[in-house]
Amino acid sequence: MTEHIKIVEVGPRDGLQNEKQFVDTATKIALVDRLTAAGFANIEAASFVSPKWVPQMADGAQVMTSIQRRPGTIYSALTPNQRGLEAALAARADEVVIFAAASEAFSQRNINCSIAESIARFEPVAAAARQAGLRLRGSISCALGCPYQGEVPVAAVVDVAQRLLRLGCDEIDVADTIGVGTAAQVQRVLNAVGDIARLDTQVSGHFHDTYGQALANILAALDTGVRIFHSSVAGLGGCPYAKGATGNVATEDVLYLLHGQGLHTGVDLDAVVGIGAWISEQIGRPSASRAGRALALKNGCEAA
Ligand code: HMG
Ligand code: MG
Repeated sequence: MTEHIKIVEVGPRDGLQNEKQFVDTATKIALVDRLTAAGFANIEAASFVSPKWVPQMADGAQVMTSIQRRPGTIYSALTPNQRGLEAALAARADEVVIFAAASEAFSQRNINCSIAESIARFEPVAAAARQAGLRLRGSISCALGCPYQGEVPVAAVVDVAQRLLRLGCDEIDVADTIGVGTAAQVQRVLNAVGDIARLDTQVSGHFHDTYGQALANILAALDTGVRIFHSSVAGLGGCPYAKGATGNVATEDVLYLLHGQGLHTGVDLDAVVGIGAWISEQIGRPSASRAGRALALKNGCEAA
């Protein structure tokens, strides 16, 4: 049987959160619905954070309650605190995401508290999420480098991963928020995390493509045994608290790579190419996906 890779499509949240112009709610809903139809088993659809911090995500409740859900697809939402969790529960999120950093400096800039304080803040959030029967994911920002402190020790990543697992996280994201990591480093970090977690089912690779390393990093992560990857249609994104970070690795590029490796994702690449072209037009910027642009041209030529 062909090996399956789970792709978590993060464009509607991690991608759009970084757009300066407010993307209207109807477009956000249409984006999630189109992604659902393309076959994703997990879509990060909204964020219940302070609208003062991330105004773009202020309409998360409307998005989550208006999307057309497909049974079997997990719709995830970010929850930084109890208030966020209550909103996510009311909006029927299937999975909530708590997010810590492996770098103290980034933790302060992103969620206004230290790493230890953030874990303490997540304790009741995690407990309530589990009690409500929700899946729980823990994201580790700046796992491969920090825009403020530079290098991040491997031990710091493992330490945060351990704390998130103790809170009951089903999945841990090793996130290269600013896209500086390289393949050998990815393997060092993931192998170390692999000492405390199952790499195939409990750990995901979340790579940004700032330095053009994301696809190489995915291949390196595959070698360690990781089978869950995050990506964003058209390469949408960045991070409002990580200056210079470009988008997440583009879903079209990741699918082209993985399908070429003979791996199964359950996602229709041509459909995603169409969605990438559509959302890029909606936000008035060219797609950041190389495979997406090439396939759109090719598909357009074939259709002509
Ligand atoms: P704070 O200012 O320290 O705390 O923010 P606060 O409790 O004083 O809250 C400030 C205001 O926000 C208050 O309103 C609260 O009521 C309100 P005011 O009294 O001033 O009118 N508030 C909320 N409103 C709605 N929903 C809530 C909520 N909580 C408070 N849940 C806080 C602390 C954590 C809230 C803030 O720092 C925050 O929301 N940060 C989120 C930042 C964020 O979303 N960053 C992007 C996500 S992380 C990421 O993208 C990286 C990742 O994708 C990995 C990767 O890409 O590599 C995960
Ligand atoms: Mg990201």
